[in-house]
Formats: sequence, structure tokens, C-alpha cells
Amino acid sequence: MSLVAGFKQQRTIFKEIGKRLNQNRKCTKHFSSGYSLLNGRIGDLRAIPLHHRSFSSQCDLADSNEAQHKYKLFEFHNEWPVDVKNTFLQDMILFENFVTEAEEENLCAESQKSMKRLRYQYDHWDDAIHGYREMEKTDWWPENEQIFRRVRNKAFVANVLPHVHILDLAADGIIKPHVDSSRYCGTTIAGLSLLTDCIMRLRRVDEEEYKQNPLGDDARTSNQPSKQESSKDSANTNQFNYFVDILLQRRSLYIMKDSARYKFSHEVLATDSTFRSSKIAKGRRISIICRNQA
Ligand code: OGA
Ligand code: MN
Repeated sequence: MSLVAGFKQQRTIFKEIGKRLNQNRKCTKHFSSGYSLLNGRIGDLRAIPLHHRSFSSQCDLADSNEAQHKYKLFEFHNEWPVDVKNTFLQDMILFENFVTEAEEENLCAESQKSMKRLRYQYDHWDDAIHGYREMEKTDWWPENEQIFRRVRNKAFVANVLPHVHILDLAADGIIKPHVDSSRYCGTTIAGLSLLTDCIMRLRRVDEEEYKQNPLGDDARTSNQPSKQESSKDSANTNQFNYFVDILLQRRSLYIMKDSARYKFSHEVLATDSTFRSSKIAKGRRISIICRNQA
């Protein structure tokens, strides 16, 4: 496991990133991409909770933040207020190569075994995710449990939920912009991103213009903009018209917490979306996500 910032590894990492950014096609055999996909639908922004947690989860950040700048895995768009950007960089952390290829294989093997009876969902365009299957799982093979121990040590101080969320996104699947419901999830989301590189976009949302639907019972779609406010499109006003694209490399871990979790929506872009002028061919992706208690 590497914590990215190793000075000696810079050359290798630079080379690897260059190689990946120049890679234009990389398709999985299992899925075709016959769907016409929508990207970045501003109208899909979901509500964010009205309150923020007053405490901050802690993790080991200094090295990785430096690395994010150095290795240019973050592509910032439009004008970011300096304080917001600095806080964001504390709150959205990437660890490249958090798991080895062998670990990735074990995680995916167990995930697929557990999900073998589940079908991919394409039916509801209103859902936050399109082209996916998912489940929550508590009991894992010991070798995989060991990996989650590492993730939890990195990302959480306490109150980690016992179940782990598996999301299997088809090659032609997308995650549309949303904010996770605060009914189901606390301050921190730690996700292993497996099988493919992809682009995760985080856009600023206006907390004042959204409010949570207290009756909603879905982890994502309960977060609809409130009716009286939804006509205002906050993302179109200059004040909040900024976002970041993050190149989530295969086998990386991201930690999204506090401001990154509450003040920004997150989404995973369709295959062949552009990062720093290069197309990123997203194949099928399995993400394995730990959360803390609401
Ligand atoms: C979600 C989600 C992110 C990921 O399931 O709500 O945003 O990394 N997943 O798959
Ligand atoms: Mn989410």
C-alpha cells in the first residue's frame, strides 16, 4: 500500500499518469455502451442537509494533499474562493494504489459472488444512478475484512457503519449528481474504486437553496431540491458555478468528508468523458464504500 507522496516515486507516478491520460480506449468485454449518456445534468442536483456536523473526522492528510497538487489528479474549473478550495483539499483525499491487484481481485470476486442474482437497473431515469446493481454486505472473507480495517483506520475515528456498500456500475452506467442523505450517512464516505479509471466530479451546491425531505427513505433520491426553491438553479449562478473533476484511478481510495460531502454534489461521469483534454474510457466499475453513522 502506498501513501502516494513518496518523493522517490514521483518520476514513476508522473510517467504512469501521463500514460493513462494518453490512453484513449480501454473497454471491458462484458458490457457494451449502446446508451446515450447524459453528463453533468445541473437540474439533477440533489439537496444537501441543512446542518453540518460540528466535529471533523481525522485522517492522515498532509502527504496526500500535496500529492494531489503535484500529480494533477484534480482539475479545478471556474473561480474557486481560496478558503473553500483550501478546505476542500483537506476534505477530499485520494490515495493511489491503496489496494494491490491481488486485493482488488479478491474484493471483486467476493462482491460478484454476493451479487450474482442481482440485475443491473436501467429503468428509472429519476434515480441518482443508472446502469448499476448494489448491495450492503456485513460478512466478508478474512482477507477482505483486513482491507476494510485499513480503510477504516485511514478514514474514520469512530462510529463506522458495520456494513459495507458495494456498487457495481456497468461500463455504460453513470452516477448522476447527488448528495448522500444525512439520514443514512454521517460526515465521511470512504470509497475504493476498482476495475477501471473514471472521473468523479464534485460541484458546489448552495446549501440555502436545498432542504432535505424528512419523509424520504432512499439514501440518495430523498435529497430533492425543495419545491419552492427548485426553480432557482443555484449551479447556474456565478457564486456557485465551480466544480472539480478528479481522476479516480483504478485501485485508489478516496475519502470524501465534511465540506466535500455536504457542500458539493458528487457524480461519476460517463465513459469517454474528458479529463485534462484526454478521454478517459471508463469500463465496468465496482466501488466498495464505507460510511460512518449519521
Ligand atoms: C453512492 C455513490 C460513489 C462511488 O453510491 O451514493 O455516490 O464511488 N457512490 O461509487
Ligand atoms: Mn453518493
